[in-house]
Amino acid sequence: MSDAPILEVENLQKKFGGITAVDGVSFTLETGKITGLIGPNGAGKTTTFNLISGFYKPTGGTIRFNGTDTQEIMRPSSAERSIWTGASASSIGILGIGAGRVLFGASPSVLAGGAVVGAGAGIGLYLGQGAYRNRSEGTKHSRPFQLAQQGMIRTFQITRELTEMTVLENLLLAPQGQMGENIVNAVVRRDAVAEDERQLREQTEEVIDLLELNHLRDEEAGNLSGGQRKLLELGRVLMLEPDLVLLDEPVAGVNPSLTDRIMDAITSMRDEGYSFCIVEHEMDVIMEISDRIVAMAEGKKMAEGPPEEIQENQQVLESYLGG
Ligand SMILES: Nc1ncnc2c1ncn2[C@@H]1O[C@H](COP(=O)(O)OP(=O)(O)O)[C@@H](O)[C@H]1O
Ligand SMILES: [Mg+2]
Repeated sequence: MSDAPILEVENLQKKFGGITAVDGVSFTLETGKITGLIGPNGAGKTTTFNLISGFYKPTGGTIRFNGTDTQEIMRPSSAERSIWTGASASSIGILGIGAGRVLFGASPSVLAGGAVVGAGAGIGLYLGQGAYRNRSEGTKHSRPFQLAQQGMIRTFQITRELTEMTVLENLLLAPQGQMGENIVNAVVRRDAVAEDERQLREQTEEVIDLLELNHLRDEEAGNLSGGQRKLLELGRVLMLEPDLVLLDEPVAGVNPSLTDRIMDAITSMRDEGYSFCIVEHEMDVIMEISDRIVAMAEGKKMAEGPPEEIQENQQVLESYLGG
């Protein structure tokens, strides 16, 4: 394993209108370590998380994941851009002909005029699409899946469709883009698909063992307790074998015995080389589990260091008492 940090955040800034939620924050996440992100309410933790995972676009600063700027990772490829341009160009043409017919009938002398009007409408539509795209890029990214494909995964709550599936099915279905889903592969590379399937089953059993979910494997996710569901969410993340896992309050509202189990699972994964960044409000939990702590307050980084050191940091303690 390399010593290079898995993630480097440099002078990160996020403004929402007049509010600066994240105000020039820099820190690194070390590879194979658990970093805890702490701070009182409104410190900017969730916003930082959303910036790292690509759900928000920074108003300043950079984030490098495995050495590459995440903005670069999420940028649409030129192929995608030409598809977009091509689609817009054809919409201009089709609109031109359509408008020509509707407005002027089939008379050839005026059809050309109609095409011009139609083309104008088409160009308007094209520009409108562009403006829409720019506006949505201003706040949100539509492409955080690109980061997930590169190995940065954050937990998501189990959606409604998934609550009707069993624990086992939830885990089996977690990995996207399995070879078996591809029809060409299924026909041409039947052996490879079978091998893939076997590995998937094996990996599922490992995750079930690690999280001690065996007694619940055939239970529908909708019947799980809140804590058990958090365990399953973690399991779905582990199925993707990510390099970096982002967890937002993984033990919020979870009972103590399940909390221990979730923490054990996270430390086992860390020992296998996975990197974690965890936002957690429970001080005891985050101090016990983290190798390093980044403490924020009012959008700024207040302190960074080993848990023992941060626990004694006067400024950090005061911000918590005040917040
Ligand atoms: N989408 C948003 N629009 C406007 N203000 C926001 C938005 N998200 C967060 N904020 C503001 O940014 C600040 C930091 O919020 P947040 O990142 O949620 O803090 P934390 O997770 O540490 O409690 C707060 O003042 C909050 O009100
Ligand atoms: Mg928050």
